[in-house]
Amino acid sequence: MSTNPKARAWVEVNADALRRNYARIGDAAGPDARILPMVKADAYGLGVAEVVRCLEPLDPWGFGVATVQEGVRLRALGVRRPVVVCSPAPVDEIDAGVQAGLQLSISSLDALDRLEAAAARSGGVAEWHLDLDTGMGRSGFDWRSAGDWLSDATRPREHVRWIGCYTHLHSADENEESVEEQWDRFSDVLDRVDRPPPGLLVHVLNSAGVFRTPRYARAVVRPGIFLYGGFVGAGQPVPEPVAAVRARVVHLRDVEPGTTLGYGSTYTASGSERWATLSIGYGDGLPRALSNRGSALLSGTCVPIIGRISMDVTVVDCTGVASVQPGSVATLVGEDGGVRITVDQVADRAGTISYEVLTGLTARLPRVWT
Ligand SMILES: Cc1ncc(COP(=O)(O)O)c(C=O)c1O
Repeated sequence: MSTNPKARAWVEVNADALRRNYARIGDAAGPDARILPMVKADAYGLGVAEVVRCLEPLDPWGFGVATVQEGVRLRALGVRRPVVVCSPAPVDEIDAGVQAGLQLSISSLDALDRLEAAAARSGGVAEWHLDLDTGMGRSGFDWRSAGDWLSDATRPREHVRWIGCYTHLHSADENEESVEEQWDRFSDVLDRVDRPPPGLLVHVLNSAGVFRTPRYARAVVRPGIFLYGGFVGAGQPVPEPVAAVRARVVHLRDVEPGTTLGYGSTYTASGSERWATLSIGYGDGLPRALSNRGSALLSGTCVPIIGRISMDVTVVDCTGVASVQPGSVATLVGEDGGVRITVDQVADRAGTISYEVLTGLTARLPRVWT
């Protein structure tokens, strides 16, 4: 464990683990697939500037984001590689996307017309990816009605260049059948394209898809959560943990039986107990759902979170953990003394997913790269 003596709480990010997870994605996807790491939502909460700096030397094909603003940020960071915006852009952000040279995803003929108009205004040619909905349902041209839009969407146009075609998998972390079904819908539509542009980039696989169905890896794969240490489904390879969440003990109390704790006094000491107050709360992104359910590591011992988590502090019962003192470091996610709490265990306890735990970590926690 490395410590940041100046912080009350922090996120520790392991750059080597991130690189090794990236290499495992590359091994699974095979030599013909390039990697488009998804770095949306501040690289799943870990810090996009550092993640990009860490991955750039590994020669990714480009970077994937969800918003024009995130793409513009990558350009400001000096990224010259392709940046794909993998969500529909609001009408009034299309010009900014074109000016930043981002590759927008297009889900309708109207959106394609708007992109073409924006590109014409800029005097250039905008590259775009066709988002094909094969069952996710949240964006993309509908595979069922390809006859209505396919020829118009894929015909050559003066100010836009069609360079990629993708779909997003909804259940690759759960089963193979759903991926096969989505792939079949996807490839049926692709096969109907009259004259696909040479070198059209096809990309379908997210992290779970890369491991479960690597046979569908094409020019590019789009991993996210595995890079950042999140599980991708039962029976699938386990990533190396990348992020740890640590907080200082800022107060210690020996309490009498019957002492109540926290908002709603949902916890009452059943005997003489020692309570440690940790300087981290839901205002830092520690899920409040861990109240009376989660745990922390102190000196390599797993101790329960007791009472409701507050905005700024959380209390654990450290009775019997002799070495704890003000300034001791508690681990909410990560390893201490050979014991580990994974981000997925935290998510399970909180009734959510690793993605939400990581992206929920707020700016109040400095990201400390090791
Ligand atoms: C379009 C798209 N591609 C790829 C990914 C990466 O998925 P994962 O983080 O599950 O690997 C996401 C994330 O949600 C996405 O929205």
